[in-house]
Amino acid sequence: MDVKGLAAIVTGGASGLGRATAEALIAAGAKVTLLDVQEEKLKATAAEIGAVAAVCDVTSPESVQAALAVAREANGPVRINVNCAGVVHGGRIVGKNGPMDLAGFARTIQINLVGTFNVMSQCAAEMMTQDVLNADNERGLVVNTASIAAFDGQIGQAAYSASKGGVASLSLPAAREFAPKGIRVMCIAPGLFETPMMTGLPPDVYDSLIAKTLFPGRLGKASEYGRMVVQIAANPMLNGECIRLDGALRLEPR
Ligand SMILES: NC(=O)c1ccc[n+]([C@@H]2O[C@H](COP(=O)([O-])OP(=O)(O)OC[C@H]3O[C@@H](n4cnc5c(N)ncnc54)[C@H](O)[C@@H]3O)[C@@H](O)[C@H]2O)c1
Repeated sequence: MDVKGLAAIVTGGASGLGRATAEALIAAGAKVTLLDVQEEKLKATAAEIGAVAAVCDVTSPESVQAALAVAREANGPVRINVNCAGVVHGGRIVGKNGPMDLAGFARTIQINLVGTFNVMSQCAAEMMTQDVLNADNERGLVVNTASIAAFDGQIGQAAYSASKGGVASLSLPAAREFAPKGIRVMCIAPGLFETPMMTGLPPDVYDSLIAKTLFPGRLGKASEYGRMVVQIAANPMLNGECIRLDGALRLEPR
């Protein structure tokens, strides 16, 4: 798929990997709408990078519907949907004070998994109504964001790992379902990337995480995530898979 001139929707676009993805797509000629709950940061980012801003809570069907209408009005029907909105949640299943607060677990699943599903399903429905784009009969592309914690979840990451495991598992059934409509579904499982989510960590934790990334010996750059999305768009054989983008990092139990 040549992304030039195509409309893209990037969730979590006010920050980190979402912002970098939007920048990479814009550099490749796509027209991007950013969806995020952080209104001020969203508007500032959109203005800086030349994107459209749509304030949106990915967990709400109505909020996503309204954001898609804003995007359609500005850029036309969506062809590329990249889901980066997400939150981290730490805590043992059974901690010093007893079982984990269920609300924290549920909120993580709600934003990371249900939110991804909500945006993907609404974007895919819109893509299905469009003409094919090329000789492969492609109509659109969805890229979801899991994490290596989906596969190597550490102690204290139960909620986050479960949410990201769900995101990773979505790729194949969604790709199979959408195949007759020419819509691909991919997933990226990042290792440790330098974003606001990571840079708030204490220096010793930060350094120990870098030490675990085999090569290159540094955190990933958000631009490398964005580049991966553009590369997935360009290669039509990539479908129904979750790609680890992690410098050979494997997380230990703790
Ligand atoms: N940075 C990493 O090392 C890393 C590693 C693995 C996976 N990830 C995943 O990549 C994605 C992006 O992470 P990041 O590092 O860029 O984080 P980030 O905190 O910089 O960006 C996440 C964005 O999601 C937005 N968001 C949160 N809840 C939302 C909601 N309900 N509706 C709409 N937007 C919402 C936030 O406002 C924020 O702008 C996340 O899903 C994260 O779990 C990140």
